[in-house]
Amino acid sequence: MANSKYEYVKAFEIEDEIVPPNIIVVRVDGRDFRRFSQVHEFEKPNDKKALELMITCAVAVLEQFPDIIFSYGYSDEYSFVLKKGTKFYQRRASKILSLIVSFFTTIYVTKWKELFPQKDLIYAPSFQSRISCCATLEVLQAYLAWRQNECHLNNQYDTCLWHLINSGKSAKEAEEMLKESQKQDRNELLFQSFNINYKKDIPAIFRQGTCALKAEVEDIVKFKDDGCPIKRPRKKVITVHSENIASRRFWNDQSCLFKELGQFTEDLNKPKTEYIKSFQYESRLIPSTWVVIRIDGCHFHRFSEVQEFEKPNDAQALNLMNSCAVGILEEFKDIVFSYGVSDEYSFVLKKESQLYERHASNIVSSVVSIFSSMYTVKWKEFFPDKEMKHPPYFDGRAVCYPSSEILRDYLAWRQVDCHINNQYNTCFWMLVKSGKSKSDAQNDLKGTQAQDKNKLLGRLSNVTDYYNTLPLLFRQGSSVYWDKEEKKMVNNEEVSVGKIQKIVAVKYCNIIDPGFWEEHPGILNENINRCRVHTLHSCNSYTL
Ligand code: GTP
Ligand code: MG
Repeated sequence: MANSKYEYVKAFEIEDEIVPPNIIVVRVDGRDFRRFSQVHEFEKPNDKKALELMITCAVAVLEQFPDIIFSYGYSDEYSFVLKKGTKFYQRRASKILSLIVSFFTTIYVTKWKELFPQKDLIYAPSFQSRISCCATLEVLQAYLAWRQNECHLNNQYDTCLWHLINSGKSAKEAEEMLKESQKQDRNELLFQSFNINYKKDIPAIFRQGTCALKAEVEDIVKFKDDGCPIKRPRKKVITVHSENIASRRFWNDQSCLFKELGQFTEDLNKPKTEYIKSFQYESRLIPSTWVVIRIDGCHFHRFSEVQEFEKPNDAQALNLMNSCAVGILEEFKDIVFSYGVSDEYSFVLKKESQLYERHASNIVSSVVSIFSSMYTVKWKEFFPDKEMKHPPYFDGRAVCYPSSEILRDYLAWRQVDCHINNQYNTCFWMLVKSGKSKSDAQNDLKGTQAQDKNKLLGRLSNVTDYYNTLPLLFRQGSSVYWDKEEKKMVNNEEVSVGKIQKIVAVKYCNIIDPGFWEEHPGILNENINRCRVHTLHSCNSYTL
């Protein structure tokens, strides 16, 4: 098979399964939400609508993924707890953390207008996510106590800070006044200076955060002849504000929680510091290696059916993917190249990058979240007449490659895959359009080689070499990278004509051939043997 030469690169993908009995907790956290909330003029210190939007997203996550049974959040963060023996995406860490953050982000963008009808989204919001493993229920209890304690401390501090600022103090003065203050001091300050009884006057949603969980409710499905209702149990996501989510009283009262995770045997005064340390642990990617972050649309087979994408290739859908990739390169200057096909994109982070100190989950979740956010925000630009019927979301992973040769083989692997899939799909849909059933078309193509497929396409289309008449976008996939371009006229105004500027370019190149890399030595910053004679121009097409 043509693919086999490059398939060895798959061996660099590492296993990241979280083994049982660990309980999996995923925490989603706003990326630079200080700036986002300023730009969007959120009320300080708490904006009720912004919190409601976060709750909407958390509820949607619980409704979407049956294995997520509990969540707790405040401000711009939410933690999601999966049931004990979950097989969700075979417990693979990067899959789980990426698709939850992606889905959460998409909902945030789609529901924005419902919560803020008067406010435009000025830029695409994004989140990060990470996983904490809880080896026992006691550790999970400590995790919950830790997060709720953070909520208490942050909210009390921010409440004081903003009351001081609103009363005329500068931010610096207010911060100085609160430096080293204890809980009790802050309660006193609020009471003495602002006549606020923190516990009584500040709403529970701000002080305690919000839980979303699955409760068992009974629905009346119909009535019998005698008028008696027939009820059926159903799981419904409810939200509650509880003073102490790590207490036995709260936890053991929720049947879905103790059934799926067990009961708390004791109340907890203070979570152990070694547990908190373990929650903050983050693994790093190997230094001095090329890092590829590959994202892939979740259930895009269904998504493209529902959205009625053209088959086998929808140019607008691919252009939307490309536009998001451009946005990613503009956001992360350490991403030097990216390659996309169908519902997937690979982003190459330069070898020496120190992005997020090479913390894998930060890197993967940020890329996946921004991509999802932009995909949703830009949808209308590419499909002005199509309503987005389902939230699109993506998963992601990061893989390290030790040399630029292996990295180029990785990219070649993806492009060969693009060719093989595209040629197969072109034949398949041409057969279907010619009147064959899907299963007949599948049977016809079983065991065929590239040559057979080319012949078949020629016969069905009456065009010689039909495959090579298809747009390069479909056959070669898209390469996105920083390129030099001469400055041109913009709106009839001269913008230093002749000067070179760098722009993010979208090209449909042959990246399997070394010629491309020789012509663009700056991308990977490497010295490829320039004596090699190459005959193929990098943007030429070629026959499989
Ligand atoms: P998971 O990634 O495992 O969740 O499955 P998936 O359904 O996303 O399928 P996969 O990633 O293996 O393949 C992508 C799928 O997206 C293709 O099989 C197509 O069904 C669909 N798709 C991607 N691009 C297009 C397009 O331009 N037109 C159409 N009609 N479908 C597309
Ligand atoms: Mg997919």
